Amino acid sequence: MDEVRQNTQRIRDEADGDSLSWFETLYATANGDEYWIPWSDGAPHRFLVEWSFSIKSRGRALVVGCGLGEDAAYLSRQGWDVTAFDISSSAVQWAKENHPTEDIDWQTADLLSLPEHWKELFDLVVEVHILQAMPEPLRLLAAPNLAPLLTPTGHLVCIGRLNENEEDFEGPPWPLTRQFINSIGSDLNQVDFVKGNLSHDEPEVVRYRSVWKREN
Ligand SMILES: C[S@@+](CC[C@H](N)C(=O)[O-])C[C@H]1O[C@@H](n2cnc3c(N)ncnc32)[C@H](O)[C@@H]1O
Repeated sequence: MDEVRQNTQRIRDEADGDSLSWFETLYATANGDEYWIPWSDGAPHRFLVEWSFSIKSRGRALVVGCGLGEDAAYLSRQGWDVTAFDISSSAVQWAKENHPTEDIDWQTADLLSLPEHWKELFDLVVEVHILQAMPEPLRLLAAPNLAPLLTPTGHLVCIGRLNENEEDFEGPPWPLTRQFINSIGSDLNQVDFVKGNLSHDEPEVVRYRSVWKREN
């Protein structure tokens, strides 16, 4: 695992400091070997799966920063009409190849400048580990772009690491403070907030899931 961390760190160091371009380099140079993608475990996030049991309705879902597509494929199997995008075209192509039987609209796109016609289009928007992977100046620009994607009855689900004690972290990832998380859905109604961890987590890791609905 150390060599995976070292490889990721080297690619980041060689990239322009504030940019997100290193994601594409990481995926492109992995040559189809998931071993080199530190966040990929071949399964949908447990917090998303658990939340999905609580909702019976279906519709259009958007998976933000889909990586290798496990969350998108899970939602598709659950009956959602899924669009999934990532800033890395290599990730998108790889996700498509990993899930050839799912009818998913795979797109290369940047959360910082989304297609205008996506506004108010989605009944579900899912963000897993994207905002926490962006340096703060970009994160502050990106977070307000999520809520406007929802239909009037849509849900926004954000999952990531929680910075409970407002510590300084040398990211990525940069765990998110409760204040920042609340700001993501400031125009929405928060309907769920849970804290927890995953079985493989280091003891200090705290994770969160926050869910908002546009209308009650
Ligand atoms: C830590 S990975 C998480 C990937 C996936 N959601 C998962 O949980 O496995 C962060 C992902 O966000 C993507 N990403 C980063 N910035 C982005 C942006 N501005 N727009 C779209 N995707 C972005 C990266 O390419 C990468 O696939």
